[in-house]
Amino acid sequence: MACLSSRPFEGRRVLLCVTGGIAAYKTPKLVRHLTKAGCEVETILTHAAGEFVAPLALATLSGRRVWQEEDLLSGERGFEIPHIRLAEWAEAIAVAPCTANTAAALAQGRAEGLIGATLLAARAPVLLFPAMNAHMLEHPATQENLRTLAGRGVRVVEPAVGALACGGEGRGRMPEPEEIAEEVFRALAPHDMEGVHILVTAGPTREYLDPVRYLSNPSTGRMGLAMAREAWRRGAEVRVVLGPVEAPCVLHGLQVTSIVSALEMRDAVMASLSWAHVIVKAAAVGDYRAKERAERKVKREGRPEIAVSLVQNPDIAAEVGRVKRPDQFLLGFAAETDDLLRNARAKLERKGLDGILVNDVLAPGSGFASETNTLRLICREGEEESFSGLKEDVACAVWGSLVRRGLIVQS
Ligand SMILES: Cc1cc2nc3c(=O)[nH]c(=O)nc-3n(C[C@H](O)[C@H](O)[C@H](O)COP(=O)(O)O)c2cc1C
Repeated sequence: MACLSSRPFEGRRVLLCVTGGIAAYKTPKLVRHLTKAGCEVETILTHAAGEFVAPLALATLSGRRVWQEEDLLSGERGFEIPHIRLAEWAEAIAVAPCTANTAAALAQGRAEGLIGATLLAARAPVLLFPAMNAHMLEHPATQENLRTLAGRGVRVVEPAVGALACGGEGRGRMPEPEEIAEEVFRALAPHDMEGVHILVTAGPTREYLDPVRYLSNPSTGRMGLAMAREAWRRGAEVRVVLGPVEAPCVLHGLQVTSIVSALEMRDAVMASLSWAHVIVKAAAVGDYRAKERAERKVKREGRPEIAVSLVQNPDIAAEVGRVKRPDQFLLGFAAETDDLLRNARAKLERKGLDGILVNDVLAPGSGFASETNTLRLICREGEEESFSGLKEDVACAVWGSLVRRGLIVQS
């Protein structure tokens, strides 16, 4: 069994360039996210950035001395030729936040500071996170600079809309550190699912009995979202049909349709079915719904016992299995308590799945509401494989296995 440990980006080398926008105060948290995933982080700060974030905070969290712009020509560190060493060292470079000033300097190819010189010498993917006042961002000069950089292959990540430090609302906010970290992970991950369209269902469904009571299950959506997240990191385009989950993990990059009931989930899946190359059915869909949903709250007074009549919900996986094209790959999940493999193989056949991931929901550290999972992958073709670990690591290993088998292709 492949036993997986977290820190998926152990030893991967990230250069973080921090420039002088107010959002620089968020960068210690970004460094923390990167190092937690195992990355080694070198940081360069502009003069202006040093006014917004303490170099000591970044040095402490990265475990390395912070580079300053003037290190480019300093006698003390000059012998290392910092811009060449850093450019060769980095596997991914993020400029976050990127000021209007730095975007202009980079668009012109200026090299009087350490960031400009390093980026000219670098061959690694460069990610830019512009963050500024909405008018500065909209200015034709800034827009032209960002377009120039994007045209040269730099990934310019759209700033978010929201409250700005300069007051008011507008476009110009730096994405949250978790979202920036996701972009960096995507730059570091193997791009072996580039352009593949993945449709994932995740989370529970709710079947309301009256306006305040429902039938559901303890699914947190974590396994499905981990599959979605990992596919996006590997270059896929990902749509997620997501049931009601509490505080889902970072959804950055995923196209999410939120639904509540099994019927809504069915409609959302069918609407994206022809778009998808791969369908991952990780949601815990309710098998039954109330035959009649009460319009008003059912009162307890005078009702020592009540009966609820339930009708079966559509079996979405089986329906997709019936109508999908032969070139679409349908991956199902089976949460079993008995006779795991026999039940899973029977489900694979019965529902027309191409692969199934089966887990024993009664085993400790597996299934619903658990951070970890132990899954066995059974495909129509190829050997069975087992994976165990954090759900995020299991998702990474499952995609790796499916890609290796040549099962994940654009049709
Ligand atoms: C309080 C304050 C906040 C600022 N915030 C931003 C900002 O969010 N984005 C930006 O592009 N410039 C911002 N600036 C202007 C930059 O700090 C200034 O253009 C500086 O020269 C940028 O230098 P650098 O690109 O070398 O870091 C701000 C200035 C001040 C005084």
